[in-house]
Amino acid sequence: MFDNSLIRQKMSSNQYFFTSKLMHWNEHANHRDMPWKGEKDPYKIWLSEVILQQTRVEQGWAYYNRFIKKYPNIKKLAAAKDTDVFKLWEGLGYYSRCRNLLYTARLITEKNNGIFPVTYQEVINLKGVGSYTAAAITSFAYNAPHAVVDGNVSRVLSRVFGIATPIDSTKGKKEFEAKADALLDKKQPALYNQALMDLGATICKPRSPLCEDCPFMKNCKAFVTESQHLFPIKEKQLKIKNRRLHYFIVETKDGYWIRKRMENDIWQQLHEFVLIETDISVDLKSLKKTKAFQSLFPANQEINEEFEKVTQQLTHQAIHASFYKVFLDKWHPGADFFNVSIKQMQKLAFPKLLAAFIKNYLRP
Ligand code: ADE
Repeated sequence: MFDNSLIRQKMSSNQYFFTSKLMHWNEHANHRDMPWKGEKDPYKIWLSEVILQQTRVEQGWAYYNRFIKKYPNIKKLAAAKDTDVFKLWEGLGYYSRCRNLLYTARLITEKNNGIFPVTYQEVINLKGVGSYTAAAITSFAYNAPHAVVDGNVSRVLSRVFGIATPIDSTKGKKEFEAKADALLDKKQPALYNQALMDLGATICKPRSPLCEDCPFMKNCKAFVTESQHLFPIKEKQLKIKNRRLHYFIVETKDGYWIRKRMENDIWQQLHEFVLIETDISVDLKSLKKTKAFQSLFPANQEINEEFEKVTQQLTHQAIHASFYKVFLDKWHPGADFFNVSIKQMQKLAFPKLLAAFIKNYLRP
């Protein structure tokens, strides 16, 4: 039940106004439903937050439910086989997050009998957990007084209070964290943090915000100056690197040849086909003339099939992939390659783009 006497702490009237209006909106107009909302189990909150660092709520929802069904508690996750967890993670990308998840589940199980740490300091010391996630876990699970500052929250604060410091600068990060801490309803941090994220996600959206439905409309610095689209201010434009990946689906009588990526690069520990990467965009004719091609295949190797090209946008990279099928009688690739049937392939984790290729083009 909304009780604004609870938030009349040592707040200025400005802060009190913001917080009480937010909590009123939350009680009467926030209809956002999500499976982890109101959850108190720190393991489940942690899992939801790690998934939500990777994807939007709509997609994360299904992943979360699948994880919770298969691994309902941290001990179950700790006891899982790496390959099974990677398979469940498939499509979310950024696999170091999945590795950290497993590592941490095992550490907590071994060292603390599966009991999740409680204090902010202990939680932030976990691998892969930063200030945002530590605030989310400790506030949602234990009602600890830590304000969360994610993209949604900083967008709301920058617009309502007209904060022009870039959100991606050190100064900006500190300023937004201080503002969020000052506004936090310290008696009900869980409810408050979720309410602010929900307002950012459903009303104060990055594009086309629904200002008419916003409890702060009349007091919002961005709204009254018609400058919502200018906030939040960012210092750096994201630089996107283009990568050209050419995959060869090599089939011999023993099956298809794949390897596990071990390099310190995207998709570490996921599987892939034979791959040549080029710095510039090249067609098959030019590709055949490269040293990389000639060290893999006999001269004049016939390409049996060429597939549609695919582009995938990652956060910092645009992947331009081409696919070629090659049948060979015999092949002696590098020692890290091994052969599998399509059925076996379907049980292994591949990057999203390759999993889609397998689904679309390879039949057992
Ligand atoms: N994004 C990250 N955490 C979230 C949460 N708890 N609710 C909604 N969106 C989120």
